[in-house]
Amino acid sequence: MALFLLSYILFFWVCLLCTALLRWNELRFNKKGLPPGTMGWPIFGETTEFLKQGPSFMKNQRSRFGTFFKSHILGCPTIVSMDPELNRYILMNESKGLIPGYPQSMLDILGKCNIAAVHGSTHKYMRGALLSLISPTMIRDQILPKIDEFMRSHLTNWADQVIDIQHKSKEMAFLSALKQISGTESSSISQTFMPEFFQLVLGTLSLPIDLPGTNYRRAFQARKNIVDIIRKLIETRKASKETHLDMLGCLMREENNKHTLSDEEIIDLVITLLYSGYETVSTTSMVAVKYLHDHPLVLNELRKEHLEIRARKNAEDPINWEDYKSMKFTRAVIFETSRLATIVNGVLRKTTKEMEINGFVIPKGWRIYVYTREVNYDPYLYPDPYTFNPWRWMDKSLESQNYFLIFSGGTRQCPGKELGVAEISTFLHYFVTRYRWEEIGGDKLVKFPRVEAPNGFRIRVSSY
Ligand code: HEM
Repeated sequence: MALFLLSYILFFWVCLLCTALLRWNELRFNKKGLPPGTMGWPIFGETTEFLKQGPSFMKNQRSRFGTFFKSHILGCPTIVSMDPELNRYILMNESKGLIPGYPQSMLDILGKCNIAAVHGSTHKYMRGALLSLISPTMIRDQILPKIDEFMRSHLTNWADQVIDIQHKSKEMAFLSALKQISGTESSSISQTFMPEFFQLVLGTLSLPIDLPGTNYRRAFQARKNIVDIIRKLIETRKASKETHLDMLGCLMREENNKHTLSDEEIIDLVITLLYSGYETVSTTSMVAVKYLHDHPLVLNELRKEHLEIRARKNAEDPINWEDYKSMKFTRAVIFETSRLATIVNGVLRKTTKEMEINGFVIPKGWRIYVYTREVNYDPYLYPDPYTFNPWRWMDKSLESQNYFLIFSGGTRQCPGKELGVAEISTFLHYFVTRYRWEEIGGDKLVKFPRVEAPNGFRIRVSSY
C-alpha cells in the first residue's frame, strides 16, 4: 500500500514537472507576433517527434496551426513553411536577410568557403565560378564524354552477380564527379579519396559530438586528408604548367574567372562540387532502379527509348548531347522518382535580422524550414499523387511551374540540375540496355529523414 502511494505521488510530481517545463518553454518563446505552434521540451524541443513521426508530425502540426507554424527542431527555434507561395518568397529573398541556415557543425566540416557558408558578393562570384564549370556548353563538350566513359566502364561485369545497388550508386556518384573534376589523376587518387569522402559525408549527417571515435570527430580528420590530397593536386599542376581540360583546370585558370580564386576557395569549391551532387544523384539512381523494377510498363518504355538510341549508333559510340536531349521519357522518370520518393524534403534558411513574413514577426537568428515535401503529393498539382506515373512529366510545362521546387528556387536554385539529370540518364542508359534485374527481397527503404536502405539494397543482375 505504502509503495503504491509512493509511486502515485512520484507519478504526480513527474507529471507536474513535465507540464511546468513544457509551459515554461512555451512562455519563453511566446513573443508577440510569432506564428502559432508548439516548442516542446527545453533544449530538445520537438526533435524526437519530428524524427520519429517525420511527415505525419508535419501534417499534424499543419492541421492544428496552418501552413506557417513555429516549432523547435534539431537544436533551434524554427519556423516551418509549407505554403508554396511563401516558400517561393523565402527562397527569392536572400538579399532581405534570408540566408542558408544549415547547421554550423555541417558547415565547419565542408569548409568556410563552401557555397552554403557564403552569401552576398562572395556567394555571387563563387556561384558564378561554379556555373561556368557546369553550363550546358561545358556539359555538351567536356563533361558528357567523361560521364559516358565512366558509366560505360563502371557498369561492366555486373551480370550474374548480386549487387548492392545503393553502394554501387554511391560509388558511381562520387567517382563520376571525381573524373569530371580531375580527369587525369582521378584513377590514381580515387581509392584513397573515396573512403575519406564517405567519412566526411557521414560526419555532416551526424550529431555534432566532438569526442574521440565519433563520426563527427572523424569527419574533421577526413576533411584534413581531403584538403591535403587536393592541395597536392593543385601544387603538382602548378609546377607542371600542363593544361587540363577538367573542372579543377578551369578553376585554376585565372583568365576563366572574373575574380581570381584563392587555393582555399578552389579546395572548398571542389568539396562543394563533390558533396552537392553526391547524395541526390546516388539516391535518385537507386530509387529509380527500385521503381523501374516495380513498374514493368515504365521500364519497357524507358528501355525502348534507350534501345532506339543504341540502334542509331555503333556499339562503342558514346552518348552525345543529341542523344541526351532525346531522352525525354528518361527525364520524366527522373523527375517522377524525385517527386514520389521526395529525395529532398526541403531546404533551410535563417534570418539575419528580425523580419516580418506573412504578417508574423520572425526574430533574428531563427531557422526557417522551407518544407517542400507536401507539394509533391498535392492532388491538384499531381493527380493521383501516390502513383508512379512518369508520363505526367511529358508535359514539359510541369517542370517550369512555380511550385516545382525539387531543385529549390531563387538565388540558391541548384546549378547542377542539368548535370545531375545527365549523369542519372547516362547511368540508366547503360543499366537498362545491358542488364535485367530482380530484387533479392527483404531490403528496406526508409523514406525519412533521408531516403536510404539502412542495410543496402541488393539486386540479382543478369545480361539483357
Ligand atoms: C538529382 C540531382 C540533384 C538534386 C535533386 C539537387 C537538389 C538541390 C537543391 C534542392 C538545392 C538547393 C539547396 C538550398 O536551396 O539551400 C541544391 C543546391 C545546389 N546543388 Fe544540387 N541537386 C542535384 C544535383 C546536383 C549536382 C550534380 C551538382 C553538382 C555540381 C549540384 C550542385 C549544387 C550546388 C553547388 C548547390 C548550391 C547552390 C548555391 O548555394 O548557390 N547539385 N541542389
